[in-house]
Amino acid sequence: MSSAVRVRVPATSANLGPGFDAFGLAVELYDELTVVPRDSGLSVEVTGEGADAVPRDESHLVVRAIRAGLKSLGASVGGFDLHCVNRIPHGRGLGSSAAAIVGGIAAAYGLTGTPLDHVKVLELANELEGHPDNVAAAVYGGFTIAWVDGGTGRAVRLEPAEGLSVTGYVPSTPLSTEVARGLLPASVSHADASANAGKAALLVAALTTRPELLLTATEDRLHQEYRAPAMPESLALIRKLRANGQAAIVSGAGPTVLVLGDSGLEAPDGWNLLRCGIDPVGVQVWSSADSTTSE
Ligand code: HSE
Repeated sequence: MSSAVRVRVPATSANLGPGFDAFGLAVELYDELTVVPRDSGLSVEVTGEGADAVPRDESHLVVRAIRAGLKSLGASVGGFDLHCVNRIPHGRGLGSSAAAIVGGIAAAYGLTGTPLDHVKVLELANELEGHPDNVAAAVYGGFTIAWVDGGTGRAVRLEPAEGLSVTGYVPSTPLSTEVARGLLPASVSHADASANAGKAALLVAALTTRPELLLTATEDRLHQEYRAPAMPESLALIRKLRANGQAAIVSGAGPTVLVLGDSGLEAPDGWNLLRCGIDPVGVQVWSSADSTTSE
């Protein structure tokens, strides 16, 4: 058993317009965890985003993910001290829960000295998260296409176009994914489904080799407008940015607005601006016992 592990896990944006529940992009904004095992008991220290809201007991999402990860590896620890440095805002569509889950599972690998098995980490993370898009990008980094095969989360990773960066507009109020998912219709028209399928395929090309096509490739008809009642300001900002030629989308379930590229527009009053590059590697683990890094 390692004496201490440190984990770094990226923020992620899902959907990216037409790729609902499938596309993910990892960005250079990171949560960090330190886990030190001990004989018994649990302590949870949290600084940064969500520090005043998250529990400090076994129900903490990272703690649950560490426990699930250890169980999947056939291991257990009596107790541990967990320290979370949170930089990913909560409830904004930037993958904070995916980061907690993937980070916790990766910590379990580190604690047991097991090299990360990305396929297995994604499988378990998808089980805990309930959909694979954010967790896939948090596991692999870069641009990911995820799907569920017989209940099992799977993903492929593609290399985003060189020099791609993102601009995020992060509102001050959160929106729960559950509420945002509740606004979606049970069925959609064939015309909308086929338009999205075409744009999703085009977005793969745009994101990897043809960034000049990002504006048209990020058009969506399956989720963004349905969710507008829960985040009208986000949709208004998207319309403004798109009219200005920017490939603006709802990040995940929102309400953050993400531009794929470097937007020139400052954030509206009360919103935070986030400019970052693409994270290339996904979750990383450092173990103090053997000084190894596992990516
Ligand atoms: N694909 C998911 C959604 C992402 O839009 O509901 C939420 O984390």
